Amino acid sequence: MSSNLLNTFQQNEHPMLVVGDADDRARQEFVKSLKGYIQQDILPLVQNTYQTRAIAKFNKTHKRDPQDFKEARQAFADDPIFKTYLSVNRSSQELQWFSVIDGIEQRMDDLEEKAKNLPKAGGSLKIDEGFVVPKYISELDIHCMPGGYCGPKDVSKLYSGALYDRGVYIYALGYMGPNNDDMGRSVCNYIKRNYPDFNPTSILDMGCTIGHSTLPFAELFPEAEVHAIDVSEACVTYGHYRAEGLGLPVHFKLANAEKTDYPDESFDLIVSHILLHETSKNAMPKIFKECMRLLKPGGIMIHADLPPFDDMDVYTQLILDNETWYNNEPFWTAMRNTDQIATAVEAGFKREDIKFDTAPMAIMELMAQSESYSEEKAQELADREFTAGEYAPGGGWEVLIAQKAV
Ligand SMILES: C[S@@+](CC[C@H](N)C(=O)[O-])C[C@H]1O[C@@H](n2cnc3c(N)ncnc32)[C@H](O)[C@@H]1O
Repeated sequence: MSSNLLNTFQQNEHPMLVVGDADDRARQEFVKSLKGYIQQDILPLVQNTYQTRAIAKFNKTHKRDPQDFKEARQAFADDPIFKTYLSVNRSSQELQWFSVIDGIEQRMDDLEEKAKNLPKAGGSLKIDEGFVVPKYISELDIHCMPGGYCGPKDVSKLYSGALYDRGVYIYALGYMGPNNDDMGRSVCNYIKRNYPDFNPTSILDMGCTIGHSTLPFAELFPEAEVHAIDVSEACVTYGHYRAEGLGLPVHFKLANAEKTDYPDESFDLIVSHILLHETSKNAMPKIFKECMRLLKPGGIMIHADLPPFDDMDVYTQLILDNETWYNNEPFWTAMRNTDQIATAVEAGFKREDIKFDTAPMAIMELMAQSESYSEEKAQELADREFTAGEYAPGGGWEVLIAQKAV
């Protein structure tokens, strides 16, 4: 699956995007190629080694196969192939940010100037003084991004957003599309197909970062007022200017999804995209309760993320669990082992109104329509089980959907 999309798309330019000069680009292409090599060549070797050497070793002592990702790690931790994979993968993650950061540091003044002179698209930015960032975000550099989402101290408020914008494009190897917006676009398509009579006029995106996934909602539901919140001032600030630069009106606000100050029943639709795994055990139930409070009767909440572990084989769980161990994602595994449906029920949604589903990746559908891509190939991808190293299960994003009773 990886080889189909690697380098298929270059990132779309927009006024706030910093790519850097030819040297920066060369470093970035190197990192993409390295990440592609890890996915296409190293991971299959790792899987084969696990299935042969690690399982056999575990069997010798336990007379059975590893039953879960913890036992799988125990069986595999000392294996040189696994250790090499972990080391190269971690290096590629550090290099990803390194390849972008110089170009951004050199262009901060330029970026500030551009932000001041953008044409207006009708969106807004609201920052409350004294806002307290939750510790699960302020205390670490999630996925090794220097300074984390909130950025290092004493740098421009545009720095971290610019770093994330280019960094995510390199990380995703084309899977997020030219605007890094595949999750939002896929969720929009899913809503339009599965709820054709649902016409939201007020939409909230929680944990929007720089609005990658938010903008498709503004584009595809042009009648709706679209709001987007995040706990990082740096991210919503850059997100605001990026949206204005792309001509889409979004109302960005520095706010915590656990408790916002929007009035009860403010929104028809509340979405999040890869937010939940970056929160915490205590925060997630509060976020679901806040969605319940903020939704109008009949309104829908949709949280898109990777699937729960109980849908996956032990090896895939192990590879994903590495994000917790080696990519500064402390809640990554715990979230996937949390009963999200029970959490939504506790928040007040009725059991029969909650489900998991798959939103086909918009990018795959786009590829399926292109000349170089056949219907058969698209179907083959859609039918695949989720395996470690892929971005989404069988060519689709996992979505938790709950509708508030009327
Ligand atoms: C992986 S990023 C989300 C990416 C974004 N939704 C997208 O699709 O491009 C997770 C984001 O959630 C934000 N976040 C974490 N906890 C939050 C909370 N309690 N309230 C609002 N935002 C939160 C982080 O600051 C970070 O920007």
